[in-house]
Amino acid sequence: MNAPGVDRLEVTLGDGRGYPILLGEGLLGRPGLLDAFVGSQALVVTNSSVAGLLLPKLRQSLAAQLDVVEIGDGEQFKTLATYTEVIDELVRQRHNRDTTVVALGGGVVGDVAGFAAATYQRGVRLVQVPTTLLAQVDSAVGGKTAVNHPGGKNLIGAFHQPRAVLVDVGVLRTLPPREFAAGMAEVVKYGVIADAEFLAWLEDNAKALLAQDTSALLHAVRRACAIKAEVVAQDEREAGRRAILNFGHTFGHAIEAATGYQRFLHGEAVAIGMVMAMALSEHLGRVQRHDAERVAALLDALALPTRVDDVPAENLRHAMGMDKKVRDGRLRFVVCDALGTCSVTAKAPEEAVRSAIAAGLASHSA
Ligand code: NAD
Ligand code: GLY
Repeated sequence: MNAPGVDRLEVTLGDGRGYPILLGEGLLGRPGLLDAFVGSQALVVTNSSVAGLLLPKLRQSLAAQLDVVEIGDGEQFKTLATYTEVIDELVRQRHNRDTTVVALGGGVVGDVAGFAAATYQRGVRLVQVPTTLLAQVDSAVGGKTAVNHPGGKNLIGAFHQPRAVLVDVGVLRTLPPREFAAGMAEVVKYGVIADAEFLAWLEDNAKALLAQDTSALLHAVRRACAIKAEVVAQDEREAGRRAILNFGHTFGHAIEAATGYQRFLHGEAVAIGMVMAMALSEHLGRVQRHDAERVAALLDALALPTRVDDVPAENLRHAMGMDKKVRDGRLRFVVCDALGTCSVTAKAPEEAVRSAIAAGLASHSA
């Protein structure tokens, strides 16, 4: 049964591994809300910025004895060394196989904590409490966990599904505007790949979303989580359909790599990547120019970049060859077939890829 004011979505998986996403505003801090998912012992993984804002509230929602480890703040700390810090703390505090790792933070905390939970004593329980918009609509749901290697992002990881995800949109009020907008890029992605009606709703409500109107935000986050949950339920290990969640990401990862991971937040690079992916879809005759323009206009209305300047097209094309999604020497792209539907193709001619890149460069005139 749902507690009052708590909306509940299910991620349906085999072998009784399904789990709820608890959604609402002002949920964190409610006494006992997470007790059903955590045993008598838990390790909270967080960072100092988030701990200062939200750890007292998390403590109110959990009766368990809590140990806490604060990791460094930022992508540069998503490393094996940080993962080892978390494992060291589990060992030092004598956590046993019945413990629960609770991730309180954005995607960096969630990915590191998740990988520690996946591997400590061959796997212990994990609860995700995502505190960025990106983590709420993407990284906390679906069980991908990882740390980076100097040779590439997310090269070391595991699938490990959480027992529950607590999404409280109230915690987003302290998020810097750029981080909020970056999460919105992933929300737009769900509309483009899976739900044209939702995309139109986003267009109508872009201003309310930017102003963090609670009911608009709850609707957007709920629909995004529902689409992610449905895709993950169909293809947990990314044997096929889950790849559609990478719409805009092949171009986006190349933009991040070609700009040294310094200039753009992931969501910002994905926004430009989606402009390129829509251009590719148009070149392949799947969508109309008007559809591509609609997506770019929505991203712009949500304070996201749609073009990159000062990056040679050749550098982007080269970086794409390094993407993890290259299989048998062929780049695979998620393309939009009509707004709200998409598919994966390995048959994009080189000239179409190059025109798509050009569409996202500031020097390009439409
Ligand atoms: P992040 O975790 O670095 O968080 C962004 C910033 O916001 C940090 O400085 C953080 O301290 C701060 N912050 C977090 N919550 C806050 C709050 N409520 N108020 C104020 N500040 C707050 O970045 P992110 O965008 O959340 O996550 C990016 C990471 O997620 C990347 O490492 C990416 O690879 C990963 N990711 C994983 C998946 C997956 O499926 N596992 C999917 C997408 C992205
Ligand atoms: N972020 C893509 C996925 O979870 O599959």
